[in-house]
Amino acid sequence: MKDFEFYNPTRIIFGQNSETNLLYEIRKYGKRILMVYGGGSIKKSGLYEVVSQQIREANALCFELAGVQPNPRLSLVRRGIEMARKNNVDFILAVGGGSVIDTAKAIAAGIVYDGDIADLLMTGGTVTKALPIGVVLTIPAAGSESSSGTVITDDEKTGLKRSFGGEALIPEFAIMNPLRTYSLPKYQTACGCSDIIAHLLERYFTTVTDVELTDRLIEGCIKTVLNNAPIALKKPMDYASRSEIMWTGTIAHNNLLNTGRVGDWASHNIEHELSGFNDVAHGAGLAIIFPAWMKFTHTRDMDRFVQLAVRVFDIDPTDKPKEQIIHELIETFENFLTSMGLPIRLREINIKEQDLPSLARKAMVGRTQVGQFVPLDEKQILEILTLAL
Ligand code: NZQ
Ligand code: ZN
Repeated sequence: MKDFEFYNPTRIIFGQNSETNLLYEIRKYGKRILMVYGGGSIKKSGLYEVVSQQIREANALCFELAGVQPNPRLSLVRRGIEMARKNNVDFILAVGGGSVIDTAKAIAAGIVYDGDIADLLMTGGTVTKALPIGVVLTIPAAGSESSSGTVITDDEKTGLKRSFGGEALIPEFAIMNPLRTYSLPKYQTACGCSDIIAHLLERYFTTVTDVELTDRLIEGCIKTVLNNAPIALKKPMDYASRSEIMWTGTIAHNNLLNTGRVGDWASHNIEHELSGFNDVAHGAGLAIIFPAWMKFTHTRDMDRFVQLAVRVFDIDPTDKPKEQIIHELIETFENFLTSMGLPIRLREINIKEQDLPSLARKAMVGRTQVGQFVPLDEKQILEILTLAL
């Protein structure tokens, strides 16, 4: 196990009545609030009214930035920064999923940043100052409700999807009501589950040894999603499975599970170029890239793959060579993703062979390697993309 420091101050307020706490949290942080939200799901579900009422009860003034799209755009971040500066905003409230939260974070950083926010994004700089952020979460997926990062697509110049972060961007609180996830379309539920599993697998594939505790915690989290995703997809109003998935989504990405170990993150970095290229949902892109990455890298540490196969995916190892067990692991994982209605090949999302070299090139822009478990160069990324075709 490596030395580590763990810090995650987000107050998690979880459950069916969690939204009634919002006004107390708002009173702690802001009098002039910028509320950020997406394309309308919160209005349809009634959450917008609930949140607005809490803001009124807290006697705070509210300005609104609506229209955040999935794979959020830099241009909207700029609009938010302008709006927040003009109105002297002192607190940013994100009501939505990862895209909304990431937009809120980029605005919170941009308001107090001296230079151009685009530079921060392209260099992956560390943020030490930002306005406080609060979250009302509507989709378990990105884990942004208690993570220190924000992922934004530069829709102005490069088309690249990049991230930056820092402790100042960790939200102060996250209100998480599983009832609010009942309205999620099946596809978004599935994309969220795929992203959560990917966050767990990115951490699982490490070269650091003696990490039994975090191995087993990660395995338990993956198993929880494997067990509960099919239930939530079949019965969208099943509170038990919705809450298991929601809490796992936060734990998967609040950095507890990478204590003492170094994760990989190649699949995420490769996937971000897909989202930047054809706007595929992040979780769907990961369902395509992760199995291909596993096929390409498994010889690096076959025992780790076998451990995952046996402990989490219930593969029977008796009398089988490691290669066979790993083949069954990847096949079982792909079948699970397909059973949730997700694509597992690039051609299913209309990405063709001739698109691959430029995707591989973009994944390397500003980087000397991608991934830690197996450090990849452009040629190897192209091989993974070809396996994903
Ligand atoms: O825009 P609205 O109308 O709200 O609809 C959204 C959106 O279309 C809809 N939705 C959300 N909650 C709903 C709902 N529809 C009905 N009922 C609800 N309760 O779902 C769609 C997707 O929303 P989005 O916020 O894009 O989803 P997600 O949470 O998966 O976020 C994905 C983004 O997060 C980034 C991804 O790259 C991607 O851009 N990530 C951020 C991370 C971080 N900051 O730590 C880490 C992740 O690895 C990830 O990269
Ligand atoms: Zn992710």
